[in-house]
Amino acid sequence: MKNILWISLAMPLLFACSEPVKENNVAAENSEDKAQVASDTSAIEAGKDYHSFANPDEITVKHIDLDLTADFDSKQLTGSATLTVERQKESANTLVLDTRELDIDSVTVNGEPVEYTMGDTDPALGSALSITLPDTATAVTVNYATSPEASGVQWLTPAQTAGKQHPFLFTQAQAIHARSFIPLQDSPQVRVTYDATIRTPDDLLAVMSAANDPDTPRDGVYEFTMPQPVPSYLIALAIGDLEFKAMGKRTGVYAEPSMLDAAAAEFEDTESMLEATEDTYGPYSWDRYDLLILPPSFPFGGMENPRLSFITPTVIAGDKSLVSLIAHELAHSWSGNTVTNATWRDLWLNEGFTTYLTYRIMEMIYGHDRYRMEAVLGYQDLQEDIDALPDNDEILAIDLRGRDPDDVFSDIPYEKGALFLREIEQKIGRANFDAFLVQYFDHFAFQSITTDEFIAYLDETLLKKYPDELDRERVLAWIFEPGLPEGAPVPTSDAFTTIDEQRTAWLNGEKAAVDIATQDWTVHEWLYFLNNLPTELSDEQLEELDSAFSLTQSKNNEIAHSWLLMAVQNEYKPAYDRLYEYLVSIGRNKLVKPLYRELSKTPEGKAFAAKAFEEAKPGYHPLTIKANEGFVNP
Ligand code: BES
Ligand code: ZN
Repeated sequence: MKNILWISLAMPLLFACSEPVKENNVAAENSEDKAQVASDTSAIEAGKDYHSFANPDEITVKHIDLDLTADFDSKQLTGSATLTVERQKESANTLVLDTRELDIDSVTVNGEPVEYTMGDTDPALGSALSITLPDTATAVTVNYATSPEASGVQWLTPAQTAGKQHPFLFTQAQAIHARSFIPLQDSPQVRVTYDATIRTPDDLLAVMSAANDPDTPRDGVYEFTMPQPVPSYLIALAIGDLEFKAMGKRTGVYAEPSMLDAAAAEFEDTESMLEATEDTYGPYSWDRYDLLILPPSFPFGGMENPRLSFITPTVIAGDKSLVSLIAHELAHSWSGNTVTNATWRDLWLNEGFTTYLTYRIMEMIYGHDRYRMEAVLGYQDLQEDIDALPDNDEILAIDLRGRDPDDVFSDIPYEKGALFLREIEQKIGRANFDAFLVQYFDHFAFQSITTDEFIAYLDETLLKKYPDELDRERVLAWIFEPGLPEGAPVPTSDAFTTIDEQRTAWLNGEKAAVDIATQDWTVHEWLYFLNNLPTELSDEQLEELDSAFSLTQSKNNEIAHSWLLMAVQNEYKPAYDRLYEYLVSIGRNKLVKPLYRELSKTPEGKAFAAKAFEEAKPGYHPLTIKANEGFVNP
């Protein structure tokens, strides 16, 4: 990977980072963050991974052989990782790995112990494991066990699963949690192939982000192979009472038995999505594409683990209304898994491209109107973040030095990134932009790239070819400046015009809620109706809406989320039982965090939040605990 200094491309914009940070509720959530944001005003070294201790420039890990046993009693993965290494510098003899809370038993080369040291622990990064390699060594084995509190592993009791009979385990490595279950070079610019033997209780099935055989005998020993090189954040494992159901030739779903049919029906369009994406963006590189449905504590909507996306059950709505999540995780097979961000500063290359592709896939499969509604909703989420975030956090190529990537999660890399690409598409024409993307995915296939390498590639391709349509200064403004450039393409939806009219008529008292013509509304129309109500509503108004539309009882988790947020903003007590139930039954951070944040604004709300959090905590994922405990603790 080339090391181009960012300073060379964006000199005048450097000062964006040194501006004082705006006071606002998001930054104020974490006062440590604020100090960190303003702390470093020196130039960022593009391509330097500020979130890894590893030294791939000297010695690179190329392949990992895992042999791990899952012990559900002690909540530990125990066994070994054998790393095949390649020296980049002949004299190099120290291999530096990332670890977090690993219990290292021994480090061996050809069965002989070798020397190693553990560095100091950084709260965000963990500890460096430095191993002295004999001159001729090409492989090193680390014998270790994970901590029961490993940040990247969640161990669930039977009670926390759908079937209530068997325990469950899943890993979530992105961004920097692979190091909590494997000692490795935990940087997205290091790609490895891997093989794994996973030992589980006999009656459980293990699956990985690798070749999975749906017909493997269930005997407690499972073998996996991932022949394509992947970054560490895409190594994933899950173990549970899982069954498989095919959805198409190359697509299927793994889930607990009671969820299997509903999941396969909800996501039955996955095969068509895969075909449409291939037709538009080039061949799928990963053989099969399966889904794994996790228990509700899964902290994200989805995670693009290669060949096997991990999916929250909260999107199984019964009407395919939330399946853009599948389009998103599938799209990562191109943008993210094939072409990967080199550092976490470059996350927008993964998420922005993927969000752009998601909209395109949704349009291909469900039509123009649905795509436009989803694009408007996405744009509104983006505007909310732009209103709330400090300037530094609105920059696509964000400065993450000294910060924990988990603390900086927002819609900026997603929706702003997608809007930037949408603008290029509109300026040069869709067919031309599609051709560019096919070429881009092919050119950088199985590589990790920086924002600067992307800009250099644009210089050689689109900026050269379309000098009249595209402007380099504007491209740099999109990438290195906060907010949106003047004239950014704003999505619109005709379907929403009538929603605005009806909402206004109701708010003006010209129409009763029961007379609003909602019979043909889809989930997106409901979300648009709710999300654009004024923040302050009276109890009478909320009661009227609730009795007309049973919003407190909505089975759609996104609608329920929007409604419950309004209920908290207005202290609408009839919804609080449902709110409590929602908070203790869902661990997806995007759905619970805004509710905790809002509740924490009043002493009474905070006490309610603390009670729900205490009850939910044993079932929450470490990331969800970390993201919300600040709201409930004094
Ligand atoms: N790769 C992300 C999840 C992620 C990003 C985990 C950064 C850790 C650090 C995944 O593809 C994702 O974007 N999930 C979203 C889906 C949504 C935008 C459709 C989610 O979980 O909400
Ligand atoms: Zn994503």
